[in-house]
Amino acid sequence: APTASDALPAQRTLPALRKAAASCRGCDLYRCATQVVFGEGPEDAQVMLVGEQPGDHEDLEGRPFVGPAGKLLDDALAAVGLDRGTLYVTNAVKHFKFERRGTRRLHARPTQPEIRACSTWLRAEVDVLHPRMILCLGASAAQSFQGPSFRLTASRGEVFDDTPWAPWWMATYHPSALLRMPDKDARAAATEAFHADLRKLAQDLG
Ligand code: URA
Ligand code: SF4
Repeated sequence: APTASDALPAQRTLPALRKAAASCRGCDLYRCATQVVFGEGPEDAQVMLVGEQPGDHEDLEGRPFVGPAGKLLDDALAAVGLDRGTLYVTNAVKHFKFERRGTRRLHARPTQPEIRACSTWLRAEVDVLHPRMILCLGASAAQSFQGPSFRLTASRGEVFDDTPWAPWWMATYHPSALLRMPDKDARAAATEAFHADLRKLAQDLG
């Protein structure tokens, strides 16, 4: 079976990786998605944000976090004084996974094998970028680094120092999880924690 590594380019630059990922057959998700959604941001970014996978809007536009979750993220970043243009924003899984409901395409969770397959690209991005800080948005992104036993409920907001991936590593809520929380009080509390985690990132960035 083909793996993501088969598509890795000899030249490890972000543009070369982005181009190569378009021909990845490392799992089945490329079959139904419109296009690969690779990470974007400056080569000298000190901070890498990692989401789960592109959503419906991202799949159509070919860019990460441009839909409703992206709007929530942009607003939260602005609230703590972080300029999204200075960050590298990517996803653990680079193709949109969905279930069809009539004309709608509903987000479906990537499996651990899909996350593992696509971690080849995420690792390649980390190797090129050498970010000083990595913030994972949600459990899927965190598990791509830490493995399937990582629990967001146990470790959200905790700074991990000197990881193999960056000197500063943290996992927080996924913006979509905040949007989906039905209970108003729970959502308010989680949103406050999300802002506190972003504030911590901004502070430690200095
Ligand atoms: N959710 C994600 O995890 N990533 C995106 O790019 C958009 C929504
Ligand atoms: Fe390759 Fe990742 Fe797309 Fe699967 S989701 S085909 S591993 S780029």
